[in-house]
Amino acid sequence: MQIRRTNQGFNFHNYPTFEKDIDPKQRAWIEVRGKSIETNVRKLRSKLSKSCQFMAVVKADGYGHDAKVVSDYAIKGGASHLGVATLKEGIRLRSSGVKIPILILGNLYMKRDLIISFKNDLMPTISSIRECLICNNIGKHFGLKFSLHLKVDTGMSRLGFDCNKFVQQFEKIQSFENISIEGIYSHLSSADEDNSLDPTSITQLQRQKFQELLKQINLDRNRNIKIHLANSAGMLLSKDFHFHMVRVGLSMYGYSPLTKIDKSLSLKPALFLKVKVAFIRIIDQGVSVSYGGKFVSSRKTKIAVLSIGYADGIPRNLSGKIYVIHNNKLFPQVGSITMDQMMVDITGSNEIKIGSTVVLIGSDGDKTISPLDWAKESHTIPWEILCSFKNRLPRVQVD
Ligand SMILES: Cc1ncc(COP(=O)(O)O)c(C=O)c1O
Repeated sequence: MQIRRTNQGFNFHNYPTFEKDIDPKQRAWIEVRGKSIETNVRKLRSKLSKSCQFMAVVKADGYGHDAKVVSDYAIKGGASHLGVATLKEGIRLRSSGVKIPILILGNLYMKRDLIISFKNDLMPTISSIRECLICNNIGKHFGLKFSLHLKVDTGMSRLGFDCNKFVQQFEKIQSFENISIEGIYSHLSSADEDNSLDPTSITQLQRQKFQELLKQINLDRNRNIKIHLANSAGMLLSKDFHFHMVRVGLSMYGYSPLTKIDKSLSLKPALFLKVKVAFIRIIDQGVSVSYGGKFVSSRKTKIAVLSIGYADGIPRNLSGKIYVIHNNKLFPQVGSITMDQMMVDITGSNEIKIGSTVVLIGSDGDKTISPLDWAKESHTIPWEILCSFKNRLPRVQVD
């Protein structure tokens, strides 16, 4: 008897062999709406004076959206600068053709890294005289000026020169001939707190400290130095925080960090998280679902299995606390979220089939699920939700 080989009768040429040829929407994916980024930047810029510049913060791969796509659309919307966290993030943008100034917000303390930053036309954030000296020596070696931003610590106790010593140190730094101080900045620690407009709040105290310091240093000789302090929350709080430039992340992606938000801004979320239904089953009453049997059906239940789990960046502690949207209807997630899958109760729906797409984050009809909702349930912040999405989720640009 002839044994039938499994590939007999098939034309394999029509099917992809390589990972890159697999449909990115085959399982679960993130839709990135570049136009929304562009619109958000325009709307946010309309709150700034004409001379105030906009740095689009695109670190952590553009808060999980895809740094290159975000940068391109932010630039279309009028961003003049980009902010990244790491040397690699900066180099990646430069090598993909981004031309505008890029500031590395993290600290580079090794000569080698500072040389690489210089070579790639990236501006480092400098927090000490020691780093200034290294940059000055690099500039001298190449017979050029090394552009950088100085950071002062006004209350975050993270990076930055000690605020109380900065005035004296600035005198010395100004004498370094091979560096060009492009900016002086600080970072707000608590601008998204509800009391930030209160004169005794940490945010107002930070602003006062920063302003005092600026008064004491001689900026007349350095008229081109850009002064910047505000993140999204600081920018939205008041013009007092704008100075020459704002550094905006979260609100550019379409989410407000403030509870009281100017509704006229109507920012548009740029990220949609979508997933395919991989399987559907009916279970009887009293049947447990997923690891640990934390959910037991109280009636005959129709279960959809979605191809997404905590290995994609969905926090497991959201198990049983979130919903998905399909055709303008919400369906609850049930049982523990597993590494690669999660289950949803779709009882009563005849529309959801194997292969249907549901929305985990984003809008469908008049229903919206935001990373802010997930953050609240997961006891974290929306920034962390956005940055947690793994590379296993392809980013698909939709406009
Ligand atoms: C130094 C610095 N500036 C600006 C931002 C942007 O903050 P936001 O996303 O709140 O606008 C960040 C983000 O963490 C940051 O670290």
